[in-house]
This record gives sequence, structure tokens and C-alpha cells, in this order.
Amino acid sequence: VYRRVTPTALPTFLLVGPSGAGKTALLTLTERKTVAPTHTSTSPLTIETLLPDGFTPSSSQFRSPGDPAYERARRFLLVDTPGHGKLRHFATAQLVNPTHVRGIVFVVDAASIAEEAGLTEAAEYLHDVLLALQKRYTGARTSKGPKEIPVLIAANKLDLFTALPPHLVGRALEKAVSEVRKSRAKGLKDSGVGMGMGGEDDGVDEEREWLGEGGEGNFEFRHMEEVGTGVVVKGGNVLGGEGTDVQAWYEWIAEQL
Ligand code: GTP
Ligand code: MG
Repeated sequence: VYRRVTPTALPTFLLVGPSGAGKTALLTLTERKTVAPTHTSTSPLTIETLLPDGFTPSSSQFRSPGDPAYERARRFLLVDTPGHGKLRHFATAQLVNPTHVRGIVFVVDAASIAEEAGLTEAAEYLHDVLLALQKRYTGARTSKGPKEIPVLIAANKLDLFTALPPHLVGRALEKAVSEVRKSRAKGLKDSGVGMGMGGEDDGVDEEREWLGEGGEGNFEFRHMEEVGTGVVVKGGNVLGGEGTDVQAWYEWIAEQL
């Protein structure tokens, strides 16, 4: 039976994360299969690419390379965004209506996470990305509910001897995101939002702005599962004397395809 194939938008993966983390380096490697020097980004950049050989899209597990459906499933868009604090609107704009976003790769420099300033910067950005995803989920009005958008925290630059191992990157970020969450809530209180100035919706805004589970405990990535976002941390390095290692990240992308 002949069926018309309607062109569908390709699954999209967003590269977000602080400046200098290695987003453009990863995009360049994916596009050219080789590393190349990068400059700090001032605008977003989208490439259409293929899942590299040796990785199987999860939707095509039972097909073989060469099968048209298998080959189609390998195609995706990779969107690089600038990480500079003043240029993050390019990334957050993508999160407002992420219709075709299949996953978010939050790239961090695992060596800078070992330092207070780098950790705080990454945690603030990560907090805002996760909160945007949570709001999108809880604010959805469709009966089907919005589709899930998973997040990969790519702990990059593991070639550097000062880099934290991935599980510690995850733990440090959870703790630092907890601090961000606390200070944002305090900021809201101090500004008077939800303090008897907003009529009947008092408290609602505060709740909407609170990431993850309520209560006294620390924020944990697993809280995000309730709002359709699985968060995993996987290590790698785009550059480095011993060559590149981005295996775990491509595997994660393959799982989402
Ligand atoms: P913005 O565009 O400012 O948001 O930064 P970015 O995340 O795109 O960073 P970019 O890819 O430009 O990389 C920043 C610097 O880190 C560059 O000098 C890269 O060569 C370097 N870099 C990227 N990945 C690695 C890595 O795995 N190991 C090491 N040692 N350096 C890396
Ligand atoms: Mg860049």
C-alpha cells in the first residue's frame, strides 16, 4: 500500500551551558568528524547531521544499517547556543516552545565545576533551564500532556587533570542548584511576589518558581522525572592529548532517536 510520507521536522538537540564549556567544539566535531579551534559564540548555529556509524537509533534497534527507515532515524538537528550570560536568550527562546526538541545537552567544563565561580555559574544556568522545562510541563493544558524532554549533563574536558569525575560533577551541581533555588525563592519574597500583593493567587507564583520537590531537602535530579525530564550526567572530552571521547554522549542521543 502506497502511503504518502509527510515531511516531518527532524528531532532537535539543543546544546546549552556556560561559556567556554565546549558546545561549539562538540558541534564542530559532530559536523566535521575532526576537532577544530573555536571562538566564543555570539549567535546560535544549527547543523543537520547523522548519528555516527556504530550508534543505533533506539527506534531502529531491530533494523540494519542501509534500511531506509534506519537511515532516516539517524538524522537530527544540533543547535549550538551562546553561553555568555547576556546571550542566553537565544537558548531560552528555544525552550519556550520546544516542539521538536528531543533532548537538551547541557555542556559543562568539569574542571571549572571544581571551582566556586564556575560551579555557581553553571548551577544558575542549569536551574533556569530545568525550571523552564518544569513550567512547560506543569503549565501544559493538553490532555495528552507534553512529551518528555530529557537532559544530558555532558561533563566535558575530562582530559584535564583538574576535572571532577562525572558523578561528582552531578553531585556538586545538585547541591549548587539547591542554593540557587533557595536564593531565588528569597529574592521573590523580598520583591513582594506572593506576599499578599497579588490578590487570590498568593503563593501560587512562588510554587511555580520552585524547582523540584518542596520541603527542606536538597534538590536532586531525580525530582525532575515527575515533570517529564530525566537528567543524567555523562563524562567525556572533545579535545585532549589522548584523543576525543564523546562516546557516552552519542549513545545518549541514540537512545533518544
Ligand atoms: P561559548 O560559545 O562562549 O558559549 O562557549 P562554548 O561552550 O561554545 O565553548 P567552545 O566550544 O568554544 O570551547 C571553549 C574552549 O574549550 C576552546 O578553547 C576549546 O578548544 C576548549 N575545549 C573544548 N572541549 C575541550 C575538551 O574536551 N578538553 C579541553 N582541554 N579543552 C576543550
Ligand atoms: Mg560556542
